[in-house]
Amino acid sequence: MTEIFAETARLILRTLDWEELPRLVQLLDVWDVARWLAVLPYPYTRKDAESFYAELEEPAEPGNPPQFFAVATKTDNLLIGGVGLHAPRGTTAEDHEMEIGYWLGKDFWGQGFMSEAVRSVVSCGFTHPEIQALIATTAVNNKASQNVLQKIGLKNMGLIERDYPALRGDDHVLKWQMTRPEWQRAYCS
Ligand SMILES: CC(C)(COP(=O)(O)OP(=O)(O)OC[C@H]1O[C@@H](n2cnc3c(N)ncnc32)[C@H](O)[C@@H]1OP(=O)(O)O)[C@@H](O)C(=O)NCCC(=O)NCCS
Repeated sequence: MTEIFAETARLILRTLDWEELPRLVQLLDVWDVARWLAVLPYPYTRKDAESFYAELEEPAEPGNPPQFFAVATKTDNLLIGGVGLHAPRGTTAEDHEMEIGYWLGKDFWGQGFMSEAVRSVVSCGFTHPEIQALIATTAVNNKASQNVLQKIGLKNMGLIERDYPALRGDDHVLKWQMTRPEWQRAYCS
């Protein structure tokens, strides 16, 4: 059954339905989307999507927010993108950080959808009291993604070396971060 995690002015953030698997493949098997996602296989096949669905079936750690928010339009409940939330590689629950990753189907770029979605996921993340910081990394020349993060209030922490094997992209990425006090100041006052 579909679980709705959050709603924004134009979007529903919810679980991914099995029937949407072909749509997921259609949205992600696009080089202009995949090229910025360090760990997404490309070409992106039905098999890749099946593995992703299998990962989603693993229960989230108790007390943690959902690990994936399917992004759908409110008008017709059409899947247009996704936002992932996971512990950054190499960290443990004791580090109290979560990393955000996201993508949007190319036909939907440039309308403010992802800023709207990520803003909502950030708030969902911080409703879990043990989470002290949300981070993200972007390629140095991924200006669209950097604009999303800047607009919703993450700070540019500078270049860091990528510490996990990526399928593509640079070894150095920009790290972005919002701490809980920064979130409280920006979102709750
Ligand atoms: C990054 C991505 C999610 C942005 O989604 P989006 O809904 O188009 O983003 P938004 O419209 O909310 O905001 C993007 C901002 O960047 C700007 N922007 C868009 N493309 C840009 C570009 N190529 N260069 C500079 N700025 C750009 C937009 O104008 C907007 O800023 P504004 O609100 O001040 O006008 C989408 O481009 C995407 O899926 N890219 C491929 C996957 C990806 O890069 N994921 C992130 C990995 S870190």
